[in-house]
Amino acid sequence: MQTVTAPPRPRSGPRFFDQVTDGRDRARAELACTLLAPRASIPPKHFYDRLGSALFAAITELPEYYPTRTEATILSAHRAAIAARVGPGATLVDLGAGDCRKAASMLDALSPAQYVAVDISSAFVAQALEALQREHPALDAIGVGTDFAEALWLPDAVRTARRTFFYPGSSIGNFAPPEACAFLARLRALAGGDGGLLIGVDLAKPASIVVPAYDDALGVTAAFNLNALRNANALIGADFGLADWRHVALLDASASRIEMHLEARRAVTVRWPGAERAFAAGERIHTENSYKYTPESFAALLVDAGWSTTERWIDPKGWFALVHAVPAG
Ligand code: AVJ
Repeated sequence: MQTVTAPPRPRSGPRFFDQVTDGRDRARAELACTLLAPRASIPPKHFYDRLGSALFAAITELPEYYPTRTEATILSAHRAAIAARVGPGATLVDLGAGDCRKAASMLDALSPAQYVAVDISSAFVAQALEALQREHPALDAIGVGTDFAEALWLPDAVRTARRTFFYPGSSIGNFAPPEACAFLARLRALAGGDGGLLIGVDLAKPASIVVPAYDDALGVTAAFNLNALRNANALIGADFGLADWRHVALLDASASRIEMHLEARRAVTVRWPGAERAFAAGERIHTENSYKYTPESFAALLVDAGWSTTERWIDPKGWFALVHAVPAG
């Protein structure tokens, strides 16, 4: 007798947990503090409302922005070897999932038991995850809107078995190395004894390649950077005029990082309920650091955070590395 396997019952949709909304008061207080500091800054998480996430997706299509494209070639060239390291049935936790496209390209190869998309841009990732669930109706998919740089909060629905943290795109570069180490150590703790880490790292390279990647001819990165001011206006009720500010990208080779700033085109005073900040012409607001590593400096960072590298894949130009690691000891 022939047995007919019933098709997997489609799930009603991904379960979604939003913590970003709950953290808004805290984010407001923090932003007011960073804007009032002698050297003003806006944390890079404020790039990512829906428009900002869409602008970042546009950045990844720019000819100058090599990281996403280079990482995608590594992922596709080594899909089978990567899948063999991760192993089937993992709990795949995608940090900064965004449009979920990188994970989507790996799902068939990785065949995780559960896929968890985490992003601060909750509305954006929720929509992307719903589209992904339509393509993979049987996938156990969970969405989490949270500022994971602060504390990675995972709902109880997230499986604890074989947690593999997927942290692509070199977003680890937004942390200064000591904070990156602390963050990776926290992931190590959440991974338990049987988890893993699959992480993308942008490698140090000449200014002639890195600077245009953060200051493209079309001005998309400038728009992405300026969008932080729209988000600051929305969050704390500030009155930043976008025309008063210009995008600046600077390479600090000694620190191995590229910095983004917004520079005042003229003297401006920015006001919001409860405070104001005067900026001189030429004064800058620091919005992002993007650290670049060598394969050796990143390997050392992983060791310090309690991870042991199993395999590393680098593109032929030596521009980007994808590293798989497991808990050390
Ligand atoms: C998403 C943090 C990896 O640092 O390259 C792109 C963000 N900033 N262009 C990066 C970004 C300017 C990006 N990360």
